Amino acid sequence: MEAERYVNGRKTRIALLIFTVVIVTLFHFLVPTTPHTYHKLHIVLRKLYFLPPVMAAAWFGLRGAALTTAVISMAFIAHALVDWPGNYMEQANQLGELAGFWVVGLVPGWLFDRRRALMESLARANEETLLALVSALDMREKNTRLHSQRVREYTLLLADRFGIAEGERRAIALGALLHDVGKIAVSDRVLLKPAGLTEDEWREMRRHPWEGYRLLRRIGFLREAAEIVYAHHEHFDGTGYPRGLIGEEIPLGARLFMVADVFDALTSERPYHKAMGYEQAACVIREKGGSHFDPAVVNAFEAIPPEKWEKVRKRFADVNGDAPVL
Ligand SMILES: [Fe+2]
Repeated sequence: MEAERYVNGRKTRIALLIFTVVIVTLFHFLVPTTPHTYHKLHIVLRKLYFLPPVMAAAWFGLRGAALTTAVISMAFIAHALVDWPGNYMEQANQLGELAGFWVVGLVPGWLFDRRRALMESLARANEETLLALVSALDMREKNTRLHSQRVREYTLLLADRFGIAEGERRAIALGALLHDVGKIAVSDRVLLKPAGLTEDEWREMRRHPWEGYRLLRRIGFLREAAEIVYAHHEHFDGTGYPRGLIGEEIPLGARLFMVADVFDALTSERPYHKAMGYEQAACVIREKGGSHFDPAVVNAFEAIPPEKWEKVRKRFADVNGDAPVL
């Protein structure tokens, strides 16, 4: 769905760019150079040729700008060959404009490419830092490195059934990835206790959605993700924690995450249970629709073919092959 939106946006921009080039070229060819009043209008409208190279630079970078500038240069030169001015000042002016098209196309094109590359490397650095953090937390508690990444991918599979806008999708992905970040505040004694937590220990454990929210809400680009972290243990029927939210009071991202997280828990090998197959896990999820889970999310879960879940599970399977043998 994301790819589809990208393609549609790209097509619209290409159409708009072609439209602008055609309109400007028509102005240039159809507005005559005599009498003098028309010539003034002709020269003013000709300046619109500067627009397509800048549009192409902003939307498509250096290559797009070079291609667009080549097209308008050909149109510009064709007109000059048909109606070459006798006045040497006007000749110099036209040659100057032609050179100007290339400057306003190529320089911003290069700058936009550079800016895009910097933004991408910044986003990669952010992503890698977050992945290192959640992998460390997963290792500490579950002795698996990829639990949070798997859950993020499962949550996105579900999100794509709801036609969510790109910004919200990104927040949901971050919320799913960082869901248990608040466990940093839970002591090892409680977090790693195999079973039988006392009431006080449960109270400490149940603080982790709030602790995660408290950590993330101050970070600008994680503010929306923080809401999902805060609500990731709420149940659709209001029996969850920490606030006992009911139904749509729970953010959609958290309702999607709950199904993804339980699916991952059921289909992963843990010390206290063996990994279930898809069918058995789907049965458990179906049973909890309307109580733990939003029924609409359960429907979305069932509409996704089992192979897609399996593909994610395999891609993010924990393997210890890269660990040194001591
Ligand atoms: Fe949690």
